[in-house]
Amino acid sequence: WNRRALLLSMLGFSAYFSELSRGKRAMEHRAVKTRDPTPVEELSPADVFIAVKTTKKYHHTRLDLLLDTWISRNMLQTYVFTDGEDDRLRKRMGSHMINTNCSAAHSRQALSCKMAVEYDTFISSGKKWFCHVDDDNYVNIRPLVKLLSHYSHAHDVYIGRPSLDRPLEATERFGDAHTRPVRFWFATGGAGFCVSRGLALKMSPWASGGNFMTTADRIHLPDDCTVGYIIEALLGVGLIRSPLFHSHLENLQLVSPTQIHHQVTLSYGTVDSKRNIINIRGALSLDEDPTRFRSVHCVLYPDTPWCSALTWY
Ligand SMILES: *[C@@H]1O[C@H](CO)[C@@H](O)[C@H](O)[C@H]1NC(C)=O
Repeated sequence: WNRRALLLSMLGFSAYFSELSRGKRAMEHRAVKTRDPTPVEELSPADVFIAVKTTKKYHHTRLDLLLDTWISRNMLQTYVFTDGEDDRLRKRMGSHMINTNCSAAHSRQALSCKMAVEYDTFISSGKKWFCHVDDDNYVNIRPLVKLLSHYSHAHDVYIGRPSLDRPLEATERFGDAHTRPVRFWFATGGAGFCVSRGLALKMSPWASGGNFMTTADRIHLPDDCTVGYIIEALLGVGLIRSPLFHSHLENLQLVSPTQIHHQVTLSYGTVDSKRNIINIRGALSLDEDPTRFRSVHCVLYPDTPWCSALTWY
């Protein structure tokens, strides 16, 4: 499933690009409001379950980069959900590589199949927070833990970034004849989102076992939209928007270089064959580090062996 294609088909081209500039305005508007109240819960990285969704085709091209960077610092709480065996990845991640046995197609069904396994694995992990990211996300654990510590994991919390500026309008199908329109917000999976354990447990009737796929079929939408549907439309819990999550659907040049270390997730991509990447200076050129993730990692963890070998300018 191509997220950009979905947005384009829903919004049309001009709306898609006004969406990008709206993202800029929203960020400027919200930048002043990122001061958080005092933490409500003592939280450590070990309390967070991070699910990375990938596919066998991207083990080399995308996952290796994450393993060299943020995952290497978060091995104990990170689980990779993929669709094919890979001895090399198995050696690197052990039981934290989960072969979902879902189809490798980028179809709505295959993506929901993976989300279903992510959900079940999180529930059995006993951890306090479920966070889902894509294989083109950099996760910055310190601001993530700080953000989540301002909420109680026992309460109903769904936090992330919507990629639309209005609720999604979909149709619930009950059997063949009966349908009903439904409107809800959802956090875009490409920016990453988190769900508290308290809320995840309430999602169980629609998300556990094979139920997630049945639910996704009922509204005919991709995995992240289905999560929003269960939480907002079925459970009546509102999405908490955070400007600290970033997907390749927004203009990543607008992330301020001085604020990069405060961001919870980052991403990279291309828009009309032009690079959409964050703006960060570093010892690595665009050719050496086209995604900028290695440069970010060296700023955050300068003691990384391959970082300290670089000369900074
Ligand atoms: C996928 O299939 C293998 C082999 O049958 C099995 O061991 C594994 O548990 C399955 N994975 C999931 C998530 O069900």
